[in-house]
Amino acid sequence: MIQLNNIEKYYENGAIKTFVLRQLNLEIQEGEFVSIMGPSGAGKSTLLHILGMLDTPSGGEYHFYDQPVHQLNERQTTELHRDHIGFVFQSYHLIDELTVAENLETPLLYQKVKSNERKGRIAEMLDRFNIVAKKGLFPNQLSGGQQQLIGIARALITNPKLILADEPTGNLNSAEGERIMTHFKHLNAEGVSIIQCTHSEKNAAYGSRIINLVDGWVDADERTSS
Ligand SMILES: Nc1ncnc2c1ncn2[C@@H]1O[C@H](COP(=O)(O)OP(=O)(O)O)[C@@H](O)[C@H]1O
Ligand SMILES: [Mg+2]
Repeated sequence: MIQLNNIEKYYENGAIKTFVLRQLNLEIQEGEFVSIMGPSGAGKSTLLHILGMLDTPSGGEYHFYDQPVHQLNERQTTELHRDHIGFVFQSYHLIDELTVAENLETPLLYQKVKSNERKGRIAEMLDRFNIVAKKGLFPNQLSGGQQQLIGIARALITNPKLILADEPTGNLNSAEGERIMTHFKHLNAEGVSIIQCTHSEKNAAYGSRIINLVDGWVDADERTSS
């Protein structure tokens, strides 16, 4: 599903290149549940954004199914992202001017889902994440944990076949966090591929493969028994 060949990412400041990802090679099969761990600044978010086509690498090749992402233009990558990927941002990225229900609706509008179907899916998500009472509120009227749940619900509402989640439970209490991980596990059992970044060993263990990223390198890549 995903193949990265010699992916690099650097930022240039004058003549100085600061590398965030170095010659990264990685293959991820459809149906995997991968946890990316590693210290702060290791490049986890950068890697996830590149996988989600929200950021472009400085070099290397990225194949997503049969698509050479590194050769596509922005319109094409936007379309690929929209049709296949649900992205949970570390910092939520909700739209402040829209209510909870309207935030959930945005990816469906991009996909041109019909009004009745949109209403049904929004209701289902509100119900699934226990946020029915919040549907008319704006993001700034919610706690960080509630905003994170909305961010997760928005990523799942299109039934994507790949979920990319950047510290999805970072602001949730442990019960909420466990519910999300259990939910991810169910989705994965139904065939949804998941790649999450996490600091938590316990959450990482929900995955079937743990990749340890250090200084932009894959330091370890192990299958777990779960
Ligand atoms: N726009 C940017 N300009 C310069 N450096 C950046 C930029 N974005 C990220 N970085 C650097 O890239 C490194 C990796 O960041 P990140 O991918 O967010 O790591 P992680 O998610 O593992 O904590 C950090 O050292 C960060 O300072
Ligand atoms: Mg990060």
